[in-house]
Amino acid sequence: MPANDPPENVTPLRPAREAAEDSRFRKEPDPRFWRLNRSLPFDWQLAAYDLDQSRAHARGLQRLGVLDAAELVRMEDGLDRVEARMHEHGFAFEESDEDIHMAIERLLGEEIGSLAGKLHTGRSRNDQVATDVALVVQAHSLRAIELCGNAMERLLRLAETHRDWPLPGYTHLQRAQPVYLGHHLLAYFWMLARDVLRFQFALDSASVMPLGSGALAGVNWEIDREAVADDLGFEHVSHNSIDGASNRDFVLDYLSAASACSMHLSRLGSEIVIWSSTEFGFCELDETFSSGSSIMPQKKNPDSAELLRAKSPRVAASYATLLGVMHALPLTYGKDMQEDKEPLFDAIDTVEACLDVTVGMLEGIAFDRERMEDASGDEMLAATEVADLLVRRGVPFREAHGVVGGLVRDAVEAGKSLSELTPEQLRARSEHLDDSYYEVLRRGSWLESKRIAGGTGSVPLAAQIVEAGETLGAVRARVQEERS
Ligand code: ARG
Repeated sequence: MPANDPPENVTPLRPAREAAEDSRFRKEPDPRFWRLNRSLPFDWQLAAYDLDQSRAHARGLQRLGVLDAAELVRMEDGLDRVEARMHEHGFAFEESDEDIHMAIERLLGEEIGSLAGKLHTGRSRNDQVATDVALVVQAHSLRAIELCGNAMERLLRLAETHRDWPLPGYTHLQRAQPVYLGHHLLAYFWMLARDVLRFQFALDSASVMPLGSGALAGVNWEIDREAVADDLGFEHVSHNSIDGASNRDFVLDYLSAASACSMHLSRLGSEIVIWSSTEFGFCELDETFSSGSSIMPQKKNPDSAELLRAKSPRVAASYATLLGVMHALPLTYGKDMQEDKEPLFDAIDTVEACLDVTVGMLEGIAFDRERMEDASGDEMLAATEVADLLVRRGVPFREAHGVVGGLVRDAVEAGKSLSELTPEQLRARSEHLDDSYYEVLRRGSWLESKRIAGGTGSVPLAAQIVEAGETLGAVRARVQEERS
């Protein structure tokens, strides 16, 4: 539900504290303080959750007898009208509204009069805001799982259609060993599969309802918390009111998951930037996910991939921000905790946009089989294969490594490829090298020799594709189950 559009009339504010007569305060807040204190410019995004929570709380109050049946009807009707007003006329806030909770309370008063005042029975803004934020984390953890599933599906489809396209695998960004593109793309699939587990953890940790904790000690009204939790879609109620009011772990859990996820996407983005350079020429993005240059007419830049690369640190910064806010904060609530929302909302917007872009970008990506195949045909990539050939003949691997290093030096110094070395040159390095040496260097055999489970060879890759399909199916089923 967080969105970037601010409500029309949220402006830097001149404070106006109402009801000075029956308030503890005689003076209005200083505008400099009010500007810092007022959370409405961002917490308006909690409105829908706050309204839902208020409906459930009102029903809880009615079950307890604090509201009679007619009052509950008027209360629910009033909350509906507040919601409709917000939809129709934007957020009609007053300068004196400190936050979304106070604003809704005031709007409800305008709709149903003094009855609105009963809604705050047995509830503090401390447990109220914690509950709203938990609902946000639940909704957006689920959304993130769904979006990860979409990106995983794209990667899996690409892996299926490019399962036998070789390209060089790199370490230190130096050509290392050839792999199949399908195998390489599935590496990202499994990263996202772990992100799904992280978001699931955030979803579970946000499924404990703080409402009923009051300001910190619990409330004087024995509201049936389980029933309210059920009404709002929480799995559990918090065990301890102090923890309930002071806990923001569920936000940290979301931010941690979002940080890992956007870090993964940044690595994908980075590889696509490199691969789509003229020097590599392994892939090309669709025009719809690229930009031109304002001065160089020939340019087609992979901006979408660059932004995936660059957005990740800001999500990690949001995580670090909230860890810093919560660090050493005495129990229970401190206004510091109002600072949980902007990092959360920004991370939600960022990671959801990045996952969406990943899906779209991968829909239109085109790989160049020939360029990748040429690059992976570099015989030097088969050096480990030759070493393993020697190992099969009883040479210890470390010794074999040295022999092949010598052969590579011979070839480089003579300006030849490895297969151009003569049988005499081979024997000068090792008595164990015969014609099988040339067989091992044959293109393609280096890939198929990786038959180990999880390796790039076609056989384990086919098994991996099946496993990925099953994992994706489980993610889809999980989302469906949560939504139903
Ligand atoms: N706007 C506040 C927040 O986001 C709501 C809770 C206010 N509680 C309080 N004791 N002043 O944290």
